[in-house]
Amino acid sequence: MIELKDLDPFAAGGNRWCYVDPSDSARCIKVRRPDFSVEERRRSKGFPKNLKPLSSFDDNLDEFNVMSALVKYYEDGVFAHISRCYGFFETDMGKGLCSELIRDSDGAISLSLKQYLWEYGYSGDCQKAVEELAQHWLAYCVPSRDLILHNLVVQRDYDELGATHIRRLVVIDGLGASGLLPGHRMPKFMQRKKAGRKVENLHQRIDELLQDKSQGRGPGMHGFLFHKGQE
Ligand SMILES: Nc1ncnc2c1ncn2[C@@H]1O[C@H](COP(=O)(O)OP(=O)(O)O)[C@@H](O)[C@H]1O
Ligand SMILES: [Mg+2]
Repeated sequence: MIELKDLDPFAAGGNRWCYVDPSDSARCIKVRRPDFSVEERRRSKGFPKNLKPLSSFDDNLDEFNVMSALVKYYEDGVFAHISRCYGFFETDMGKGLCSELIRDSDGAISLSLKQYLWEYGYSGDCQKAVEELAQHWLAYCVPSRDLILHNLVVQRDYDELGATHIRRLVVIDGLGASGLLPGHRMPKFMQRKKAGRKVENLHQRIDELLQDKSQGRGPGMHGFLFHKGQE
C-alpha cells in the first residue's frame, strides 16, 4: 500500500491529484480527487451522458485502457510525445495510476504548456516544439480528445550557461476517444482526419490563450493549481 495522504500533491487537474511516487522520483501517481467522487462527476454531466455506467466516469481506468491499446496496437515510437503508463497501485487514497513523470534537465517537474505560454509567451523554440508534436500526431494518428493546453507539458533542457531550450512536448492526459470506436479500429482516413482536427484545435487553443493574456484576462485555474516543480 502506497501512502500518499500525508504528502502534498505536486499538481491537480479537474479530476485527479498528482503525487510524486514516494518510491521512484521518475514516476507519478494519480488518484481521483477525494472532493469529487465518480458518482458526483456522473451527476454533474446531465442527460444523456449521466446514463452511462459509473466506470466510464473513472478517468484513471479510461486512461489505463487507452494506454494499453497504444502499447498493443501502435509502434513504440508513439511514446516519444506521450508519458508512459505503468499500471495501477493500491494507495491510501484509492487506486492510483502510475505514469512517467516528466521533468526538466534540472530535475524540476515540467510546466504545462498553458503555464509555459502564460509565463514565457510563444517563443520560436516553443512554436517549433508544437510543430513537432503536430507532425507526430499526424504521423501516428494518435487517438486523442482535444489537446488541451494543461494536458501537455513542456520538457526543457538547460545548457552550461543556464539557457533553456525545449526538448519536447509530452501529452500527459486526454488520450482516447469520446466516441464508441477505439482509435485503432477506425478506418485510416478517419483516423488521419481526426488527428488533423485535434492539431488544428491545438493551434486555436494556443491563439485563444495568447489573446486572453494580451487582453488582460485570467488564465483559468487548471494546469496551475498548486503546481510544485521542485520535488
Ligand atoms: N506525467 C506528468 N509529468 C509532469 N506533470 C504532470 C504529469 N501528469 C500530470 N501533470 C501535471 O498535473 C496536472 C494535472 O494532471 P492531469 O493528469 O491532467 O489531471 P486530470 O485528469 O485531473 O486533468 C497537469 O496539468 C500537469 O501540469
Ligand atoms: Mg488533465
